[in-house]
Amino acid sequence: MKRKIIIANWKMNLGFKESKTLSEKILKKLKTRPNFFLRNLKIKKLDIILCPSFTNLSEVSRILKSKSGIFLGAQDCFWEDHGEFTGEISPVWLKNLGCRYVILGHSERRKNLKETNNMVHQKVKAALKAELIPIICIGETLEERRRGIKDYVILDQLSSALTGIDLDLKQKIIIAYEPVWVIGSGRAITPNEAEYMNKIILQRMIDFYPLERVKKNISIIYGGSVSADNVKSFVDLETTDGVLVGGSSLKAAEFVKICQAII
Ligand code: PGA
Repeated sequence: MKRKIIIANWKMNLGFKESKTLSEKILKKLKTRPNFFLRNLKIKKLDIILCPSFTNLSEVSRILKSKSGIFLGAQDCFWEDHGEFTGEISPVWLKNLGCRYVILGHSERRKNLKETNNMVHQKVKAALKAELIPIICIGETLEERRRGIKDYVILDQLSSALTGIDLDLKQKIIIAYEPVWVIGSGRAITPNEAEYMNKIILQRMIDFYPLERVKKNISIIYGGSVSADNVKSFVDLETTDGVLVGGSSLKAAEFVKICQAII
């Protein structure tokens, strides 16, 4: 069975002190839960990934340490390693800081910063080169859904992100399907809808890569108003390897409940 994945996307919600406190609280709560000692995360086949803002990565990295069984992820990176790119962050530096994952193409960046499919593609390439695991976010807006082009949008985002990228045996990617219109709304889509879309994503991945590579190296997860109450209905789906959690990852108790619901 594939490892399940829970990703906490803290977005720009927490400053240095809050990020430190929340990571400490999550660790403490996980340690005190019955049957949930951190060393068991490995046995339980669960990867927990915390994604704070850039300025708080070092501190959260220090708190998690490599042994805690919880991993660090960044919320974005640039497509070059270094150079005249004011304000950008190198994927190599993120790797050196202790990041194992990086979120790319989140809908908030596509909308607010006009990130295009091509930019996401370049970032995916750079992240893989830096030995980071890209978490590629794809999803349709409500308008695209109403126009009946949802499947096309998803396939286009997916193909653009990955065309020409070969995955070697060690490289992994995570595809996060996040319907934009339910993000932060408190109302997730139904598990059936997620299953339908994940099957489409899986098929496209099988068109792109050998089946064995897809099974071992590619995970498909769901994001959009995931909570402790609905998480199980998503991770129980055959095609869903985990969840990307925004709002519900900002409170230690709720987030740990989500983790526990999965194992
Ligand atoms: P949400 O955010 O869980 O608050 O809907 C998910 C995301 O944007 O990644």
